[in-house]
Amino acid sequence: MKPTLSLILAASATAARLRRPGPAGAATVDLSSTRGPTRSLASGFLYGFPDNGTSPSTHIQPDLVTPLKPPASRAGGSQLPAPDLGWAVDGYDSYIGRFESALSNYRTTRMYGGDFILLVSDLWGSDGVDDSGGYYPGDNGEWEDAEAFWGQLLDDVVKNDMVEGLVFDIWNEPDIEQFWNRTFDQFLELYVRSHNFVREKLPELQICGPSFANSPALDDDHWSTLLTTIAENDIVPDIYSWHHIGGQGPDPAAADFATLLETHGLPERPIDVNEYAWPDQQNCAHTAWYISQLERNEMRGLRANWAMGPELHDFLANLVFKDGEEYKPTGEWYLYEYYVAMEGERAASAASEDGLFDAFAVVQEDGTVKIIAGTASVVEPYEISVSGLSALGLEEDGEVEVRTIRFDYEGIDVDTGGPVNLGSETLAYSGDTLSILLDPPNNSTGFAYEILGRK
Ligand SMILES: *[C@@H]1O[C@H](CO)[C@@H](O)[C@H](O)[C@H]1NC(C)=O
Ligand SMILES: *[C@@H]1O[C@H](CO)[C@@H](O)[C@H](O)[C@H]1NC(C)=O
Ligand SMILES: *[C@@H]1O[C@H](CO)[C@@H](O)[C@H](O)[C@H]1NC(C)=O
Ligand SMILES: *[C@@H]1O[C@H](CO)[C@@H](O)[C@H](O)[C@H]1NC(C)=O
Repeated sequence: MKPTLSLILAASATAARLRRPGPAGAATVDLSSTRGPTRSLASGFLYGFPDNGTSPSTHIQPDLVTPLKPPASRAGGSQLPAPDLGWAVDGYDSYIGRFESALSNYRTTRMYGGDFILLVSDLWGSDGVDDSGGYYPGDNGEWEDAEAFWGQLLDDVVKNDMVEGLVFDIWNEPDIEQFWNRTFDQFLELYVRSHNFVREKLPELQICGPSFANSPALDDDHWSTLLTTIAENDIVPDIYSWHHIGGQGPDPAAADFATLLETHGLPERPIDVNEYAWPDQQNCAHTAWYISQLERNEMRGLRANWAMGPELHDFLANLVFKDGEEYKPTGEWYLYEYYVAMEGERAASAASEDGLFDAFAVVQEDGTVKIIAGTASVVEPYEISVSGLSALGLEEDGEVEVRTIRFDYEGIDVDTGGPVNLGSETLAYSGDTLSILLDPPNNSTGFAYEILGRK
């Protein structure tokens, strides 16, 4: 009997449902190629520490901060209420409160061993909510007031013994109107003038820039113009900085940036991505992806902070939340805790070809391999192809024991209770390469794998 069309359709629909979709791609890890010891580069954050006058703050229980080993934080008294609206409004009187907030945050950050990136534009009052009253350095060609501001700031930095571990961040996101509502030429003049001012008055202070909202790209005129200005004036910052909340991912941006430096004859310097991830990218899957890309490109990474007003100055950029008097960790906090505790040699790795899946791997001293992996918030299965097992002293074909750990994310005010240990299983491998399948249950789950050794 000939099957009817509807029977054929029903049968093929069942087959489609039963057939597991093939992986959408594979990230690779090469255990035979290492990139130096772990540095926990990516666990910094924008603002996030509570203010405490000019003193360090332990409002957030230290046992929720220490495991993150934040390599840096970044602040400058943004969005404090009147009268602390920044230099632009009323000079010193409206600046000093913002400076004191930054000093408190500096001291807290140093207490936990991190560097502090000073957001000079927030001290000025340009903090995205237009407290500056629409007044920018260099308006009407007048720079004396800006120089008075930088002079006061550097005096306060010296007086309060803040030079060590401090980075002077020239301006925040001058490539977008929300933070620089003037011509780009006026910004370029600000860049040259403030760089030269700091170098002359306090040469030992580190400078970073340009902290653009858009990451480097070959066709981005802001980048080309700024790098031309830097080369012409010989004012290379100590740290190049930008954000990954607009533009392309860290991998393609790093490749373009290397080309741009070469084109402009500029030297390499350390890179700070001093804000990363949109709000809907701040989950365990996407964060594992970001960590992998930042680590691969040796970029120090600070999570973006999307809170406003007093909440900006709290919660470690949404890694903790308040439950009564106590702070509690979010699901993402546990992923960072796991990442920072990964110690040993970092293994070479690469993202999947579509760029939407990535992994970060280390080889511990005892030969255990630890990997974190996640998708860029997409729900597709991917593989991690782990090659070079013989570098661990294993045979080219055989079996290993692999433990899987799941990191759930349930929002910025939910403690997931910690990672879920899914147990270990024996996986066969051949040709010196092990394949691990990651099939995400939803768009926010991250995973860790521990290759425990020969079976
Ligand atoms: C705030 O600073 C004061 C010193 O000025 C210190 O005694 C106090 O413990 C600090 N509070 C917190 C919660 O860190
Ligand atoms: C920039 O300035 C113009 C003119 O004053 C104003 O209309 C516009 O809203 C400003 N843009 C932002 C993002 O504040
Ligand atoms: C994602 O899937 C995991 C595993 O099934 C589950 O525990 C978690 O609640 C899910 N998260 C969301 C936001 O649905
Ligand atoms: C992830 O899934 C949630 C729930 O289905 C959805 O609201 C959210 O927009 C998704 N996020 C992204 C980045 O796709």
